[in-house]
Amino acid sequence: MKKILFLTSTPTIGGNGDALIEAAMAEAEKLGAEAARIDIRERKINFCRACYGCSDTGVCVQQDDFMEILHLAHEADAIIAEAPIYYNCMAAQMLTVVNRLCCTFACKSYQIGPKKKVGIFLTCTGSDVDEMNRHVSNILTLPSVSRAITEYRTEVFTKCISGSTCNDTPEYLARAKEVARWAVETGKSVAS
Ligand SMILES: Cc1cc2nc3c(=O)[nH]c(=O)nc-3n(C[C@H](O)[C@H](O)[C@H](O)COP(=O)(O)O)c2cc1C
Repeated sequence: MKKILFLTSTPTIGGNGDALIEAAMAEAEKLGAEAARIDIRERKINFCRACYGCSDTGVCVQQDDFMEILHLAHEADAIIAEAPIYYNCMAAQMLTVVNRLCCTFACKSYQIGPKKKVGIFLTCTGSDVDEMNRHVSNILTLPSVSRAITEYRTEVFTKCISGSTCNDTPEYLARAKEVARWAVETGKSVAS
């Protein structure tokens, strides 16, 4: 059974990011996947302190909820993560989690777990789709990150002008479900 981690970083309960993740999660479960969901807004995640205290052990010195997310990410066969776009970047909530991946490159003996597919949903009102794809690509193609990934895909959902845009747009929900089907299927080992 495929294990899929669903990660939201939107602060908006019941908003666009939640609607997409819920559609994808329901589809994955329908296909028999084991789904775990983490809403970053419910967790305590501190900023990376760049102390490199993790460099010997691979364990962050901070006692918060980050290591739980990291362990679930390593265990998963695929990750589907969502972020709203703020100022043409993924929301700080998501970037804070990404920054905490420091232990995975600072510790030379770090064990990353099985390679996995990663699907990213970005919601926004009008940011440029190509720029947002590049933003994600700039992170996921870093050597320390890409070594844990077989394939990734990014879906940018524009025109999210109300809290219910994604929920009210069947095409958006269909795209979210399509990513879930892609995540569950056995894939080839080529980054895209
Ligand atoms: C502080 C802030 C900055 C934003 N910056 C952008 C932006 O640069 N480009 C854009 O298209 N939308 C921007 N938005 C709109 C959000 O991307 C949009 O409201 C969000 O995707 C809705 O998702 P949610 O319903 O999950 O909160 C911004 C919203 C906020 C609150």
